[in-house]
Amino acid sequence: MRKALVIGNWKMHGLSSRNSELVEQIASGIEDEAFSSVDIGMCPPFVYLQAVATQLAETAIAVGAQNMSQHASGAYTGEVSAEMLVDSGCGLVILGHSERRAIFGEADVDVAAKVQAALQAGLLPVVCVGETLQQRESGEATAVVVNQLEQALSGLSADNIARVVVAYEPVWAIGTGLTASPEQAQEIHKVLRVSLYDLAADTADTVRILYGGSVNAGNAQALFAQPDIDGGLIGGASLKAQEFIAICRAAA
Ligand code: G3P
Repeated sequence: MRKALVIGNWKMHGLSSRNSELVEQIASGIEDEAFSSVDIGMCPPFVYLQAVATQLAETAIAVGAQNMSQHASGAYTGEVSAEMLVDSGCGLVILGHSERRAIFGEADVDVAAKVQAALQAGLLPVVCVGETLQQRESGEATAVVVNQLEQALSGLSADNIARVVVAYEPVWAIGTGLTASPEQAQEIHKVLRVSLYDLAADTADTVRILYGGSVNAGNAQALFAQPDIDGGLIGGASLKAQEFIAICRAAA
């Protein structure tokens, strides 16, 4: 049985003056409800990682980054390495988010290199795949997400694939309020599960597949009730303490 996982992706939001109150509200709410059956993570922007990690040090909530360099060190202005994330208190890292791909031109080959670098540093890679509305409407959704998954995990051993989390985030559902229906999401999650079996039959069943795309307190329960949806990657709702706690409750 896979343990549920809910991760908050803050994206480019937050300021020191506000972050500590948000983190405190979430941490105390989660502590009160003792969600022992759910792993929880928070991914603030790079500049707040250390402060949030320090604030959460005595809790079971993991801290993660929203991206990282595939390079270990060197002349890569503006970049942050896996080792620096670990040094900042990170345990996980979101990779291949559709906004990195669409806005910043991140290619499948970059995502694959980042996955390998994250694993090498002992980070939990959360690998994002997802189709655009145009790809869905043209019937390409399955082919697109399977290709993204296979490319992101290419070259990994079965044991290393077991150390990855996958996040299905239909691009057309991100930030739009147009959440995929539980049936739509489960259909793709099932496809991803089958692909994982093709890649690593022995460990595929242990890999958690999260859904992301306009998850909120009202739809989380129905999504997480699906057999191949193991939790959520939460954007906007992760910036509202009670909403994020309610989503974690739905996963418990
Ligand atoms: O990484 C999670 C994010 O892409 C989903 O955003 O605001 O639709 O929950 P949102």
